[in-house]
Amino acid sequence: MTELKETIAVFGLGYIGLPFTAALANVGYKMIGVDIDANRIEKLKKGEVPFYEPGLKEGLDSHKDRIEYTVDSDYAVKNADTLFLTVGTPLLENDHPDFSQIDASIESIGKNIRPGQLIVLKSTVVIGTTEERVAPMLEKFSGMKVGTDFFLAFCPERTIEGLALHEIYHLPKIIGGVNKESSIKADKILRRLGGKTTVVSSPRVAEMCKLVDNLYRATNIAFANELGMLCEKMNIDAREVASAVNNSYPRTTIFTPGLGADGPCLSKDPLIFKHSAMKHNVLTPLVDGCVIQNKFSTMRIANMVKDHILKNNLNGKNLAILGLAFKGFPETDDLRGSPAKKILDSLNKEGIKFDSVRVYDPLVKNFMNYQISKNIYHALEGSNIILFLTNHPKIMNIDLDHILDKIKKPALILDAWGNLNIEDLPEGIDYFRIGNGVKKSSRIN
Ligand SMILES: NC(=O)c1ccc[n+]([C@@H]2O[C@H](COP(=O)([O-])OP(=O)(O)OC[C@H]3O[C@@H](n4cnc5c(N)ncnc54)[C@H](O)[C@@H]3O)[C@@H](O)[C@H]2O)c1
Repeated sequence: MTELKETIAVFGLGYIGLPFTAALANVGYKMIGVDIDANRIEKLKKGEVPFYEPGLKEGLDSHKDRIEYTVDSDYAVKNADTLFLTVGTPLLENDHPDFSQIDASIESIGKNIRPGQLIVLKSTVVIGTTEERVAPMLEKFSGMKVGTDFFLAFCPERTIEGLALHEIYHLPKIIGGVNKESSIKADKILRRLGGKTTVVSSPRVAEMCKLVDNLYRATNIAFANELGMLCEKMNIDAREVASAVNNSYPRTTIFTPGLGADGPCLSKDPLIFKHSAMKHNVLTPLVDGCVIQNKFSTMRIANMVKDHILKNNLNGKNLAILGLAFKGFPETDDLRGSPAKKILDSLNKEGIKFDSVRVYDPLVKNFMNYQISKNIYHALEGSNIILFLTNHPKIMNIDLDHILDKIKKPALILDAWGNLNIEDLPEGIDYFRIGNGVKKSSRIN
């Protein structure tokens, strides 16, 4: 590794900012990591990493002499040559974008910026934010001119949690500077990480690229789920359909049905796109449909559990939930947009009471007020309503025979990802696989 003279500050040391800090240190930059969360900064100084990301602790530890952590954003602006923004851009309760983390960092940067510095936004934003919100704010606070006195670009983030430290080095990077010089400066840094760089004509093109990529995925998920719901009613396996189409026809890739597009990005980015369109009076019926279908695809699991309870005179209601993070593969402990939480919140809100609730996830350490079971068998012990909610490898491809003695019959198993291998359905089990439908054992029939 060549040690470089330049210092880079990263604002926002979350799932994106922290791996990015480790990667930039790894290619030779001196780093200043900034976060408003003082507790997080103290832990990072002691070498503690706040979430699960393979290779992150090792990456930060091996470059600890090149990484400073601070809550002092003014200090970071004064001592860095380039500033990257990876702060959060969540939605407010009313589904409108929350700009507060961006605004706070930009104010601090604007008040302390020096001529020649480069600012690069990586957070996912409403299209137009860099040029219409960030640039004027920086000019107002600094009294300087963007593009000549200081430089500004938007470069979206596309890495996936659980594989971030692999993808940072390999994924192509899209760069949209406010002018050519801004793009060249951003390109010079990002190409050191590896992966090709693509310079687009403006920040808003780069902002749009990020949003449409996630919107495209979220729409495909909604489409697969709609297909799956019809298949369930028609005794067709949607997986068989998707596989036959994908392997036979050259221009189509259909996803397999499951839950909706949950998690911190796929659930919010379509709404950020919609918000961008609303600003220009463009209607988005397809995006609206995608959002509705994806919300419904997850929440219908709560409805199915409720219906099952109301229709059957159960002797005890013992719920087991397997898979708590928003996804299982690549594995993560991130609970933002967790389908398990959404489903439990809905059941609690409906006043559904359980005699016991057992929850399990290989990585999650704390989940609402529930104690995490030590393994899948413990979670299943005595349960009669069982939800498989992620595709974590440790809860995939399980033979029903191996867990049968743990389950209290009659039982309902809702399988969102095709987790279970079932040869013959034993007596006393209702098995529902998303995209395929219900299989009833003879006893319940
Ligand atoms: N998580 C992903 O997989 C992913 C993927 C692509 C893009 N993104 C986008 O990247 C951005 C960051 O996402 P994330 O998942 O890392 O969020 P996060 O919530 O994990 O991290 C954001 C961090 O910013 C800190 N912060 C808030 N205000 C600050 C301020 N004024 N100064 C310094 N730090 C501040 C928070 O304390 C937090 O630690 C979001 O816009 C998100 O949409 C995320």
